[in-house]
Amino acid sequence: MTPRPVATSSAQPAAPGVLVILGASGDLTKRLLMPALLNLACDRLLPEGCAVVGMGRDVMTSEEFRARQRGDIRKFCTRGTVDEERWGWLESRLHYMGGEFDDPDAFVRLRRLVDDTAAAIGAAGNTLLYLAISPDFFALVNQQLDTAGFTRMKGARRIIVEKPFGRDLDSARALNQSLLAHWPEEEIYRIDHYLGKETVQNLLAFRLANGMFAPLWNARHIDHIQISATETVGVETRGGYYDRTGVIRDMIQNHIMQMMAYVCMELPASLDPADVRDAKSRLLSSVRMIAADDVADACVRGQYGAGKKADGSPAVAYRDEPAVDPQSNTETFAAIRLHLDNDRWRGMPVYLRSGKSLWKRGTEIVVQFRPDEQAPAGVDPAGGEAVGNLLVFHIQPFQGVEIRIQAKRPGTTFTLQRAGMRFDYADSFDAARGTGYEVLLYSALNGDPTLFSRTDFVESAWEIFQPVLDSWAATPAADDPNYAAGGWGPLAASTLLTRDGRHWHEILNRDLLARTPFFAEAPSLVLNNLLPAFRPLAVASGTTVVEAGALDDEMYFVCRGELEAVGADGVRLGLLGEGEFFGEMAVLFDQPRAATVRATAPCDLLVLDGDEFRRIVNDFPAVAAEFRRIAEERRGVNGE
Ligand code: BG6
Repeated sequence: MTPRPVATSSAQPAAPGVLVILGASGDLTKRLLMPALLNLACDRLLPEGCAVVGMGRDVMTSEEFRARQRGDIRKFCTRGTVDEERWGWLESRLHYMGGEFDDPDAFVRLRRLVDDTAAAIGAAGNTLLYLAISPDFFALVNQQLDTAGFTRMKGARRIIVEKPFGRDLDSARALNQSLLAHWPEEEIYRIDHYLGKETVQNLLAFRLANGMFAPLWNARHIDHIQISATETVGVETRGGYYDRTGVIRDMIQNHIMQMMAYVCMELPASLDPADVRDAKSRLLSSVRMIAADDVADACVRGQYGAGKKADGSPAVAYRDEPAVDPQSNTETFAAIRLHLDNDRWRGMPVYLRSGKSLWKRGTEIVVQFRPDEQAPAGVDPAGGEAVGNLLVFHIQPFQGVEIRIQAKRPGTTFTLQRAGMRFDYADSFDAARGTGYEVLLYSALNGDPTLFSRTDFVESAWEIFQPVLDSWAATPAADDPNYAAGGWGPLAASTLLTRDGRHWHEILNRDLLARTPFFAEAPSLVLNNLLPAFRPLAVASGTTVVEAGALDDEMYFVCRGELEAVGADGVRLGLLGEGEFFGEMAVLFDQPRAATVRATAPCDLLVLDGDEFRRIVNDFPAVAAEFRRIAEERRGVNGE
């Protein structure tokens, strides 16, 4: 029998040591590292023997550095108010010196400051060097650290490197070689901040410790997996960086690959860092390479045009963002189908998507199980056809795990309805929200590399996407911008799945539904029931969504786009825009369609099966009456 890893609790303070931050006067230190250190100090997870030595290009004394951090922590602290006693404790351990990265003397002085500080607090023999600097300086700073003897310091020494680890396979290899010229692999800690997220670490916990899923975790039982990381923000002030980067380099090659590895890897034999990292790397090695000829079929790229933000205010097109090339072809959205060629997953696709300026912010992993082909006749599932269960890992902003099932509705008939079983982190744990960097700093101080990326992982991840990057660089997108800011992304992303007989699972929440007036006042019990029942439908401009006279029975909600309602006589009855709905008369009053509704722009719609809608609202007579009243009031607006 394979030995199973044993999880251990780790509430002890980290090992004594000195954290040296190169680039300490920059953004990362004040926004993430200091708040994370304060959180660790509040949780008593830093030892008495610990110190932070910063070096940066700004010239200031340690006193001035402390005063600056004291001001900034008030802005960036994640716990509401700053615990003054704990901050005082941490602040007294902060040291700083100004220095230019090309000045060898600066590194000699830094070495002296680190040695003196460590000796004074009894923390010699554990040095953590954090490169909070642009990758352009990595090679130079490494050389300087080496010359000043940091690579030969007594005891444990480690170097933490922030992404990006290169911008393609060749530059990643070169970067790794330059790091490995000075540090052995086990001393290099490459950060991917997604591994600092509780919900991402929980992917591993879920798989290791919930054996009931283990027999089902393969292509025989799972139809496909979707990993989505969508953002509502555009590139904002980061145009200069983003325009050289794009979503594959920014999100997919790193963060999404980390999540996919946890979900799909073979279980490691133990929680030993080498076992976990071996398992992840092996999984990436099993990804089928996308041949240049297949890129167009397996990958969709997008770039946002002008549109609306989630709050309804106007959003500019990507090409009009500051510091972005007005002719840019950089992708702000990508959807990709991958295959894993190993015994567990052969034949099963994994769909990935990520983008900026989209309809909703959410990172979710959806595991779609296959339906039970043996279900006895007479079981009439909600939604009409048997669909498999969904297991949803909610990474953020909602944090939890959910299983979508069919349940018997209360009452005298054997009728089914979709329902969700939800584990919500907030219901079970009282953990203060952190920055995600707490666990990373804590692990690095303790010499635990589990949550850091190894050379082989980083390079395998680049290998997977290099053909896509090459192909896209060689053939600029003809149709950019191809989605409106605030939409679901390009239509082709939807087609990528519909061609395979599948669709994206848009994981909705009550706030999203409440954007539609029809639901704004509906009680949460009704909304909870309706949420799993919606099906997304993206259509091109010109598509007829409902046809006058048809007897179909579905109701539509417009998330993005515009449609026209045209009467049987061909006269336009009205226009339908975002937040509006149509088709309610057929659903509520069992009538044939009175008008044809056609998209006059690309549209993102949510569709509700009439039968399912009635099953739900009929349990709530007051709500059903209210929906009918709203519908009656609108009678005629869409020709219904
Ligand atoms: C960063 C990217 O790595 O991750 C950003 O550079 C992106 O563009 C961010 O917005 C997303 O992180 P999170 O933690 O907000 O999901």
